[in-house]
Amino acid sequence: MTSPSADARHRPVMLAEVLSALEPRDGGIYVDGTFGAGGYTRGLLAAARCNVIAIDRDPDAIAGGAALVAAFPDRLTLVEGRFSDMEHLVHRFGMTMIDGAALDIGVSSMQIDDAARGFSFAKDGPLDMRMERSGASAADVVNQAETEQLTRIIGVLGEERKARTIAKAIVKARDVEPILTTQALVRAVERATGRQRPQDRIHPATRTFQALRIYVNRELDELAHALSAAERLLKPGGRLAVVTFHSLEDRIVKRFFAEQRSTRVSRRFFAAIKRQARSRPCRIRGRVRRNCVPANAPRHLRCRSISTISRFHKSEAGTDA
Ligand SMILES: C[S@@+](CC[C@H](N)C(=O)[O-])C[C@H]1O[C@@H](n2cnc3c(N)ncnc32)[C@H](O)[C@@H]1O
Repeated sequence: MTSPSADARHRPVMLAEVLSALEPRDGGIYVDGTFGAGGYTRGLLAAARCNVIAIDRDPDAIAGGAALVAAFPDRLTLVEGRFSDMEHLVHRFGMTMIDGAALDIGVSSMQIDDAARGFSFAKDGPLDMRMERSGASAADVVNQAETEQLTRIIGVLGEERKARTIAKAIVKARDVEPILTTQALVRAVERATGRQRPQDRIHPATRTFQALRIYVNRELDELAHALSAAERLLKPGGRLAVVTFHSLEDRIVKRFFAEQRSTRVSRRFFAAIKRQARSRPCRIRGRVRRNCVPANAPRHLRCRSISTISRFHKSEAGTDA
């Protein structure tokens, strides 16, 4: 049998926390919405005699999971798709409700390490960044968007204070020749920011790359839709664990969880909760736990945090709204 940590391509982050949050049980049905190298899926399959529906939008991740599917033919369904679509995917495989779901938001080590995918400012490759290998690439955005739009993308999705200067530098560079590689983009950013100095905590292109990746893959929309989909799918007592990487994701997840608990949520959302409470007597409660990754871990593993939410039966829920 395959061991839970058998794939060396990507070290699963916060696996122990995710398993402890989900408490997988025999006969349970779990969704791993971000299969990657299958770290969470392996963990779930090893922790209980449960069934896992694993989803990834990256065709390479799906191909890489073939051995794991062969090792667990009766208990693992691996499907190429988006986690925002998990409701349809779960229904497609004949299930209506699930006991738990895990989302490990962001990119995998395999995606970052493969220069040809264009995710990394540290490696030269085509400026691509498409997890699904289809649709508009980062190069399309960088070469076609107006200065104002680039400023907003880099400022909002990268939380980059120098967004306008960087956007102008990008436009100036592409007027000379199209920006088609990761290193051409790095050079354009460095013209605006200067090169990395020893005292700089991160490379000056970090936030621009993050912004473009989020934009190209519509990552925040995906997350928002996935949270609602998971909430509709969870059985009473079911659990959702979300591992986030940066503050934009973190804010969306925490706000979503807080809204589940608050009585002062938007009318529409409150109505949805109320409707659910009537049709299936349950309440929702969330809890947020901070990262426990060792301080000497690589940066992309370090700044993760986990948020978990459980759906409780009404009788267990106390005064939580
Ligand atoms: C951080 S990695 C997950 C690693 C995984 N937990 C493991 O242990 O190997 C994130 C994965 O989620 C996938 N992904 C990102 N956004 C997605 C989405 N909206 N729908 C489905 N998969 C997505 C990426 O392609 C990537 O493989």
